[in-house]
Amino acid sequence: MTARVALVTGGTGGIGTAICRKLAAMGHKVATNYRNEEKARAWQAQMRAEGVEVVLARGDVSSPEDAEAMVREVERQLGPVEILVNNAGITRDTTFHRMTALQWQEVINTNLNSCFNVTRPVIEGMRERKWGRIVQISSINGQKGQYGQANYAASKAGMHGFTISLAQENAKFGITVNTVSPGYTATDMVMAVPEPVREKIVAQIPVGRLGLPEEIAYAVAFFIPDEAAWITGANLSVNGGQYMGW
Ligand SMILES: NC(=O)c1ccc[n+]([C@@H]2O[C@H](COP(=O)([O-])OP(=O)(O)OC[C@H]3O[C@@H](n4cnc5c(N)ncnc54)[C@H](OP(=O)(O)O)[C@@H]3O)[C@@H](O)[C@H]2O)c1
Repeated sequence: MTARVALVTGGTGGIGTAICRKLAAMGHKVATNYRNEEKARAWQAQMRAEGVEVVLARGDVSSPEDAEAMVREVERQLGPVEILVNNAGITRDTTFHRMTALQWQEVINTNLNSCFNVTRPVIEGMRERKWGRIVQISSINGQKGQYGQANYAASKAGMHGFTISLAQENAKFGITVNTVSPGYTATDMVMAVPEPVREKIVAQIPVGRLGLPEEIAYAVAFFIPDEAAWITGANLSVNGGQYMGW
C-alpha cells in the first residue's frame, strides 16, 4: 500500500490513539494536534516507546486560525495531508432546559465547526492531487439522539450531513468522505460516566460489552485503501448492535 500522510485530530485521546496506531501500522505517516504541549510530548514518548512515530502540531480545532496553522505545520513536517480523520470531540451533557449557551457553543465549535476548520485547509490540495480520504468520527447518539445530549447529538448528526455533501462535491476528484459512528467505547470519556449508568448502557448493547478503541480504528482503516475507492458518503455504525437504523 502507498504510504500516505495522515492527520488525526484528537489523536492523543482514547479512540484517537488507537487510530494513530492503526494508520501507522498500515505504513502511513501520522500526525496529530495538541493543546497542552507537556501532555502531548509525554504521549508522543509513550507512542515512540511502542515503535509508533507521531508528529505533533499545536492547534485547537475549534479555531479556524489554529486549525489552518496546524495543517500547515503538518505539511511542513510530513508533506501534504492525504488522509484526514476528524476525531477531536467533547461532551458537555445536560438536559436542554438547563443548557447554557456556552455548553451549546463549546460542543458545536469543537465537534462540528472543527470539521470546517480542519478540512477547509486540506481539501484544495486533495482535489489538485486527485486523491484523498476524509473520515468523520461521529457517534451513535448523532443517529438516535440521547437524553441530556441535544448539543452533542446535533453536532454529531451535523458531521454526517457534512460528510454526505463533501462526498458528492469531491467524488470526481478521487476523494472519499465517510463517517464512522461509534457506540459506547471504553475510553476516558465513557469511563467518566458513573458505573451504575454504564451498567445500564451495557445492558442495551446486544454484543454485551463496551467497544474497544481498536474496534473503532479498524472501521476507520477500512475506508483508507485504494480498494475502498467506491465507498463514499457512508455512515458506518460500530456499536455492538445497539442501534441498527439504516
Ligand atoms: N468514547 C466513546 O464512547 C465515543 C462514542 C462515540 C463517539 N465518540 C467520539 O469519538 C471521538 C474521540 O473520543 P474519545 O472517547 O477518544 O475522547 P477523548 O479520549 O476525550 O479524546 C478527545 C481528544 O480530542 C481532543 N480535543 C478535544 N477538544 C479539542 C480541541 N478544541 N482542539 C483540539 N483537540 C481537542 C483531546 O485533546 P486534549 O487532550 O487537548 O483535550 C483528545 O485528544 C470524539 O469525537 C467522540 O465524540 C466517542
